Amino acid sequence: MDLKDYIRTVPDFPKKGIMFRDVTTLLKDGRALNYAVDRLYEISKDRGITKVVGIESRGFILGAALALKLNAGFVPVRKPGKLPAEKLAETYELEYGSDTIEIHKDAIQKGDIVLMHDDLLATGGTMEAACKLVEKLGGKIVQISFLIELSFLKGRDKLSGYEIHSLIDYDSE
Ligand code: PRP
Ligand code: MG
Repeated sequence: MDLKDYIRTVPDFPKKGIMFRDVTTLLKDGRALNYAVDRLYEISKDRGITKVVGIESRGFILGAALALKLNAGFVPVRKPGKLPAEKLAETYELEYGSDTIEIHKDAIQKGDIVLMHDDLLATGGTMEAACKLVEKLGGKIVQISFLIELSFLKGRDKLSGYEIHSLIDYDSE
């Protein structure tokens, strides 16, 4: 099965010039969804993972599915102002402006073996910030996985030193 066949490309969304890679067309197909989760599971099983960290919002979907299969806990990294208890925040630069993500301070215990997951790797800024949060709390990140990687944006350069996996690659726009 070629998972790329299940991704819908929407030109000029959310703004002119952007080719948006839409995962909803993969998620709605039971066979493709199952296949994608299985492939990600095969990459991450037998690594002793105790927590899967998923990034709001699209990283929650397969992140939670992976946590269930791996028998691990699920931890959400959220957009600002959503988490109710004590938290850590990390701000990162975008092309124009900046963005912030947050995690609960008690979400990760020292020594947790962590799989980081998001649906898509673009510039890598979001995942880099999420990794900083997890490491500040004493988590040991053993893998980072994505459904889609836009490799022409060189997001991996921001994540050097980590074991990174993606199932679908776009090497040009
Ligand atoms: C998208 C995508 C990743 C992030 C990747 O999320 O789902 O989380 O951008 O970008 P980067 O590698 O350049 O940091 P978005 O902020 O659009 O929000 P969503 O997941 O809530 O739709
Ligand atoms: Mg996202």
